[in-house]
Amino acid sequence: MKVILLGPPGAGKGTQAESICKTYKIPHISTGNMLREAVDAGTKLGLEAKSLMDAGILVSDEVIVGLVEERIASPDCLEGFLFDGFPRTIPQAEALIKRHIKIDAVVEIDVPDQEIIDRMAGRRMHPASGRNYHVIYNPPKEEGKDDITGEELILREDDKPETVKDRLNVYAEQTSPLIEFYSVLSNESNLNYIKVSGTESPEDVTQQILNGLET
Ligand code: AP5
Repeated sequence: MKVILLGPPGAGKGTQAESICKTYKIPHISTGNMLREAVDAGTKLGLEAKSLMDAGILVSDEVIVGLVEERIASPDCLEGFLFDGFPRTIPQAEALIKRHIKIDAVVEIDVPDQEIIDRMAGRRMHPASGRNYHVIYNPPKEEGKDDITGEELILREDDKPETVKDRLNVYAEQTSPLIEFYSVLSNESNLNYIKVSGTESPEDVTQQILNGLET
């Protein structure tokens, strides 16, 4: 199963990715997490990406496509994978088609902007794994600590309210055209396009997605 999770920042892509990947036993490929790992490791890519990410600006298509191409060549991707945060532009989506990478399903998670702004202020992340929590909606068992490792959770640099607004603008301009792109593709092929409301509880959103993937 090859799945794309599409949706604005904070829609719950990372949260839902965990359940989908567990169910279908496929790797979770988050370009955001890959870039954050590069930033933490201080690689050339990380140094270039950091200022863009902190400002909510997209990293170049060329760099991202190269990163994804390398990742999906790994043996654990043979049976499929889930893309979270990729593709994010029409050229990135076209790069998949050009490379004959056939996607089975695109899941769009729809959440209104105001709810996203409220959510981001409460998000906490475990940097090593990319696991996400929310201080109210999805709290860790112990405040400020990752459930699995017990390590400290952090507030992401790009979750400041002013940056979240910029990220929503970038989504509207550069990523939302993919909704039309994949809707048209699903009418012309056997691509399964699933749209879910991301405002329900995380468990209900998971159920909507799994129901859609079964059809
Ligand atoms: P990335 O890390 O991909 O960020 P994003 O797409 O903006 O998505 P987020 O991780 O912010 O949110 P999410 O949808 O995963 O939501 P989450 O599950 O955490 O990208 C970061 C940056 O990297 C980009 O700005 C760009 O610079 C660069 N980049 C990455 N990919 C790129 C690409 N392809 N091309 C170019 N540049 C790229 O949930 C959010 C919060 O809400 C959490 O606290 C969670 O607990 C809570 N929550 C989740 N579901 C619910 C629910 N149903 N109800 C209530 N709360 C919920």
